[in-house]
Amino acid sequence: MPDEQFPAQVKIVEVGPRDGLQNESSFVPTATKVELIRRLVDAGVTYIEAAAFVSPKWVPQMADGSHVLREIERRDGVVFSALVPNLKGLEAALEARCDEVAVFAAASETFSQKNINCSIAESIDRFAPVVERALREGARVRGYVSCVLGCPFEGEIDPLQVARVSARLYQMGCYEISLGDTIGTGTPLKTRRMIEACAKGVPTSALAGHFHDTWGMAVANIYAALQSGVATFDSSVSGIGGCPYSPGATGNVATEDVVYLCNELGIQTGIDLAALVDAGEFISSSLERSTSSRVARAMAARRARAASMQR
Ligand code: HMG
Ligand code: MG
Repeated sequence: MPDEQFPAQVKIVEVGPRDGLQNESSFVPTATKVELIRRLVDAGVTYIEAAAFVSPKWVPQMADGSHVLREIERRDGVVFSALVPNLKGLEAALEARCDEVAVFAAASETFSQKNINCSIAESIDRFAPVVERALREGARVRGYVSCVLGCPFEGEIDPLQVARVSARLYQMGCYEISLGDTIGTGTPLKTRRMIEACAKGVPTSALAGHFHDTWGMAVANIYAALQSGVATFDSSVSGIGGCPYSPGATGNVATEDVVYLCNELGIQTGIDLAALVDAGEFISSSLERSTSSRVARAMAARRARAASMQR
């Protein structure tokens, strides 16, 4: 039985194919992206951010979004989403039959300029018609806020500023606000304070946690967010990723680690951990690196010990 302070189930938003891969310097073949998504769906993942319809000059790795979305197998109950920075991106996403899209703002002026080449206020003005058009076309919209627990250029960020941007996106029509610890400097107490501030303008049920694990605090922050009533978390299989416009930031919290935590807390995710670990092994070996998931590493070590005892 789940502890009564935690939700009975959480929604996991798998961002590996987008946030996980966008920072790769060598182009990851479309077929690898498609195969990763297939394996994630097989593992029971039901929400996947599959692409970003951003300028290919800014993020060349995401230039094949239309191909990825055309080639993936659609399955009932699985939502495929993509980042869109403007109407041009939205049109491409709708054309590619994305179920949902996400606009992305920031709580830091400098990060906003570096990431999307405009101020926070200008980004809000740019997103309003995007959200309106998406909703008219039947696509729900998520809203991201970056730098909620620190900015690579400005340092500390006031939770009230995070709350203001979150509330604006929510009022605009975003059904969910994903709070991004872009540089992974957040800690549990700061996480709780920031969520409390945001919850004054956005219902907690509409908040999601998006923790990069650069400082190793992501799982602790998720635990704190769960205690604050948040029940949606973004994560990236194998912990792959980073943001091209956030120097030094590493990948999101590994989905394997979030699923293990939830399993141990008695919280349903609908995801099969062993199959997810297989998907993580696939992308790690495709990228020729070892997994960043502590859980996947521990499971592999346990398997190796068991195999050596049988010999
Ligand atoms: P800009 O240069 O100001 O835009 O960039 P522009 O309107 O002047 O257009 C410049 C060129 O890009 C033009 O092409 C446009 O057609 C083209 P040209 O005429 O020079 O040949 N263009 C596009 N092409 C394809 N799709 C589009 C598009 N828009 C314009 N949608 C812009 C402004 C927003 C476009 C640019 O800054 C951009 O694409 N930024 C995206 C940066 C990005 O993807 N960052 C990573 C994702 S955010 C993230 O990782 C954080 C998150 O994970 C949460 C967290 O961790 O905090 C979400
Ligand atoms: Mg991110």
